[in-house]
Amino acid sequence: MRWQPDGGNALARNREVQVNMMRISCVRFVKCFSLRMALLNSLKILALITGVIIIFGYHYLSVSHKINNWTTREIQAVSLKPPLKLKFNIEDFLSNEPNVSSKYPGGFLRSPECPAEELEILILVFSAPGNFERRKAIRENWAQDLNNSTSLFFILGGVEVKERDREKLEFEQDVILANFTDSYRNLTLKTVALLDWAGQNCEFTFLLKCDDDMYINYPKLRHKLFEENAVFDNKTIIGRLAAGWKPNRSKKSKYYLSKTEFPPQVLPDFMSGPSYVITAGLIEPLLSAVLEEHWLNLEDVLPCHPDKDLQTNRTS
Ligand SMILES: *[C@@H]1O[C@H](CO)[C@@H](O)[C@H](O)[C@H]1NC(C)=O
Ligand SMILES: *[C@@H]1O[C@H](CO)[C@@H](O)[C@H](O)[C@H]1NC(C)=O
Ligand SMILES: *[C@@H]1O[C@H](CO)[C@@H](O)[C@H](O)[C@H]1NC(C)=O
Ligand SMILES: *[C@@H]1O[C@H](CO)[C@@H](O)[C@H](O)[C@H]1NC(C)=O
Ligand SMILES: *[C@@H]1O[C@H](CO)[C@@H](O)[C@H](O)[C@H]1NC(C)=O
Ligand SMILES: *[C@@H]1O[C@H](CO)[C@@H](O)[C@H](O)[C@H]1NC(C)=O
Ligand SMILES: *[C@@H]1O[C@H](CO)[C@@H](O)[C@H](O)[C@H]1NC(C)=O
Repeated sequence: MRWQPDGGNALARNREVQVNMMRISCVRFVKCFSLRMALLNSLKILALITGVIIIFGYHYLSVSHKINNWTTREIQAVSLKPPLKLKFNIEDFLSNEPNVSSKYPGGFLRSPECPAEELEILILVFSAPGNFERRKAIRENWAQDLNNSTSLFFILGGVEVKERDREKLEFEQDVILANFTDSYRNLTLKTVALLDWAGQNCEFTFLLKCDDDMYINYPKLRHKLFEENAVFDNKTIIGRLAAGWKPNRSKKSKYYLSKTEFPPQVLPDFMSGPSYVITAGLIEPLLSAVLEEHWLNLEDVLPCHPDKDLQTNRTS
């Protein structure tokens, strides 16, 4: 779910960004993620069913707003005090939805090579087959700042891609094609594929997930992650915490959740999907936890259970 533009500090503030080609529309994030991440920080997530969610949100990526159609967000290292209590009874969340594992086919139709050496930052950008202009804009703008300790790939669903798009995609070597049909309703699968691919293919310290309409101030991000005395526990999610958000019950909403899908009146706290950073140590436990969870049509929210040992240390 996207943070509302609120005119906060922009990462891109002092840059001349050439982004005319970017369209405004925005990306959603999968609900599973943020939530999951948050959960993982504090406990190994188990099935939604049994417990209370405890979330550790450690930091904020902070405010986002639009500059020339790019969404920008400021990174703020804001520590939250875990454990945050789940604001609803987990018993109310006995969803009939199948587990994520039963919907995720696994596998990749194309898997570019990650550098052999350990990366400081692996950047995986959620994109869609038709978003050629957005990918081009990223390559020609903020991705120019990356040095060889960072790699950037785009991840998209590669099944049932239109013939015309398929031909053009042949020329994009930085695109990962996951084994599912790219659609809004499948965003949660993209989140799973991201964890799956990152865990299998790359060595890195931090994984940055962002959408293809995000402008990332890489120098600043790198500075926040590696300098300023930053010390992160290896099971940390850094991002914009969405605390106490309510499910949208309007069918017109992109984030619509019916009472059957999600009965509680409030979502578990989660890291807002347009961008967040996960430490390497969280990838594997997060992936296995997510696969066991009930399906939720939000890519960045993961209601889960606290009976697994997802204990992590607090960061300061
Ligand atoms: C993609 O998923 C299908 C099932 O939906 C499976 O049969 C196939 O082997 C998978 N392909 C890869 C490359 O993993
Ligand atoms: C990448 O760039 C940063 C400065 O932006 C620098 O401190 C770092 O050493 C560089 N890494 C490599 C491998 O060149
Ligand atoms: C980055 O470049 C430096 C200097 O050319 C090299 O020593 C280092 O191995 C490279 N790192 C990666 C991850 O490719
Ligand atoms: C993805 O979404 C499409 C349509 O929204 C659906 O037909 C498809 O089965 C979904 N799942 C996979 C694994 O592709
Ligand atoms: C739900 O979504 C609709 C349509 O996008 C929006 O107008 C409304 O403000 C949202 N409601 C809440 C509670 O966020
Ligand atoms: C973080 O966890 C990953 C995956 O378990 C591991 O490879 C890496 O060495 C850990 N990093 C640190 C600094 O402990
Ligand atoms: C997901 O559900 C299926 C049955 O619907 C079950 O066979 C499978 O073990 C479950 N997977 C996980 C990881 O919980």
